[in-house]
Amino acid sequence: MSACNNCTLYKNCSRVVFGDGNPEAEIIFIGEAPGKKEDELGIPFVGSTGRILDKMLASIKIKREDVYLTNICKCRPPENRDPLPEEVSECWPWLEKQIAIIEPKIIVTLGKYALNSFVPNVKISEVHGKILKINIPKLGELKIFPLHHPAAARISRKTRTLFEEDFAKIPSLLKK
Ligand code: URA
Repeated sequence: MSACNNCTLYKNCSRVVFGDGNPEAEIIFIGEAPGKKEDELGIPFVGSTGRILDKMLASIKIKREDVYLTNICKCRPPENRDPLPEEVSECWPWLEKQIAIIEPKIIVTLGKYALNSFVPNVKISEVHGKILKINIPKLGELKIFPLHHPAAARISRKTRTLFEEDFAKIPSLLKK
């Protein structure tokens, strides 16, 4: 993955941000793409958005080192712009391999880009906080739990409330 040049994002980023956490995790959190801090350190979710995620994990008494964190795009887009559809699709095989190795019980998608890369044509406003069962040829049945992106939760109070309510459902989903 560190030598990937499938799309052009590698040209402007400092490094590939692979993933972080427990490769045997029951739950994987998938964001959009690395930001500035992630690009500097090579670790996903270590900037201000990552701090929200850390707080939320602490609120449900789950340790960051017990989950797995990654992004649909492994390289930082210039100026943190949204990833382009071709960047997402070129990076997809890496994510597929990560999921195949980890075999999580639940895949939490953070934000619309991560959600729509698994389930196109659904609106996050309609499906957040609900388990979506999907079938992907190489991976079989997956349980997707869509959440709003923590960065969006920082901007809007309403989104923050929804994000917190949805996040609080995670422990019971893992028990099932
Ligand atoms: N940091 C990440 O690694 N991913 C995001 O989606 C946002 C911040």
